[in-house]
Amino acid sequence: MVDQADWVKIFDTTLRDGEQSPGCTMNVQEKLAVAQQLELLGVDVIEAGFAAASPGDFEAVKRVAAAVKIPVVLSLSRTREADIERALAAVDGAANPGIHIFIATSDLHLEQKLGMSRQEVIDAAVWAVSLAKRNIDYIEFSAEDASRSDVDYLCEVFGEVIRAGATVCNVPDTTGYAVPEKTRALFARLEADTPGGDKIVWSAHCHNDLGLATSNSLAAVEGGARQVECTINGIGERAGNTSMEEVVMALRTRKDHFGVGTRINTRQIYPASQKLSQIIGVPIAPTKPVVGANAFAHEAGIHQDGVLKNVATYEIMRPEDVGLQSNSLVLGKHSGRHAFANRLRELGVDLETIDVNDAFARFKDLADKKKEVYDEDLFAIAAKDTDVPQLYRLVNVEISSSLRTAPGATVAMTVEGVERSNSAEGDGVVDACYKAITELAGVEPKLERYQVEAITGGTDAIGHVSCVIRIDDIVVRGHGSHTDVIMASAFALVDALNRYESRRMRREETNGETVREVGP
Ligand code: KIV
Ligand code: ZN
Repeated sequence: MVDQADWVKIFDTTLRDGEQSPGCTMNVQEKLAVAQQLELLGVDVIEAGFAAASPGDFEAVKRVAAAVKIPVVLSLSRTREADIERALAAVDGAANPGIHIFIATSDLHLEQKLGMSRQEVIDAAVWAVSLAKRNIDYIEFSAEDASRSDVDYLCEVFGEVIRAGATVCNVPDTTGYAVPEKTRALFARLEADTPGGDKIVWSAHCHNDLGLATSNSLAAVEGGARQVECTINGIGERAGNTSMEEVVMALRTRKDHFGVGTRINTRQIYPASQKLSQIIGVPIAPTKPVVGANAFAHEAGIHQDGVLKNVATYEIMRPEDVGLQSNSLVLGKHSGRHAFANRLRELGVDLETIDVNDAFARFKDLADKKKEVYDEDLFAIAAKDTDVPQLYRLVNVEISSSLRTAPGATVAMTVEGVERSNSAEGDGVVDACYKAITELAGVEPKLERYQVEAITGGTDAIGHVSCVIRIDDIVVRGHGSHTDVIMASAFALVDALNRYESRRMRREETNGETVREVGP
């Protein structure tokens, strides 16, 4: 074991593996906002993207690399020269740059996907690591599908890449197939039997297909892993990756058992979770451990009684330790700009990235409508600011609905600064509203997802609407928040249309050079 024997590094891949999952794409500005939050959290490594995937990915990695000061920033790379060059160029400006090179090692992947022999895979891995090592010290090597690979072969592959200069060896459970007992044994065996295995950091990267990602990551730690790869809220391919908040709080809460902790500032966990959810428009399940709305709620009378007598009867973590105010009422209509800005800062919102005056005006507006403004409301207010050009602006929405007539909506909207208005009928007021808006914009999007969420409790709660629309092959999402869900729905669609226009224009600028679509 190397010097980190008493703590586990947190490698965050929200911006790469997380962002890869459908509906979780982010534009460069959004990735920067997440990266800044990751730095506040104190993660050790940020995987900022896959630089060779597209010009947008390259730009995002480069911008994150320049913005982040403490964590290692790295880019994913295949064992290809062009990939390695792109990855190295993207992290060139980082204070602590790194590269993450991967190739599959299971016979299934070798035979069916790569068409390579075991020796050819070793040669490719060693060649890639050696090439990168000429330019950079920090090299993580991943054996994709490691949990379904032959263990003797894994020891050989890892031994060779360590000899070539890899400093971190990652053992991905790419398909979420692993079980904790075997994972623990695998890490112990790899560390013992890999030549040089005692000189590098062993890393776990688990997917959650069987709901075992956190258990497997913790078992890996028991087996000797000193880095866990994870994402905020567990977003990621298919059923997601290991949830950062679960692993961090498990190690902290059961330090008696694991004997190791992390260097995460746990008070930033809840702000990070909320911020990501707002940015990608994917709500958090109420029962999600640590960050779900019910994670610290006590509904049953017998539980409430116990908690009132002694909170430890039913709570193993303190809400404030994860950054959740047990009484999250913070501001009201008499609160000033200073208190407002202060609270946003405490919640991890980077004031540089938002228009504080505009956000404050919206806060006052909301405080007038609601008596009490909660942290969740503030997240919603702050999340509205993005760098997406506002081609369309919603001016007004009027709706009519009765049991006798078809629901209708009249929408006023500026299109490139010129105000226009349109009325439409629909299957409901939201449908009517969407028809009126899309006719004004002159597009015919397919609505692929529409989701309403009450951000805070009570009938005067802010409603948060996220929608995903498709126009030709461009898929974008939009969000809107308002105390009236119809208005929130209209804002969400207008937001999506602005993102569509921004994406379309960017695509025109790059002349279709894009390999994989990235945000907004
Ligand atoms: O799941 C996986 O195997 C990966 C690798 C690229 C590390 O994400
Ligand atoms: Zn993965």
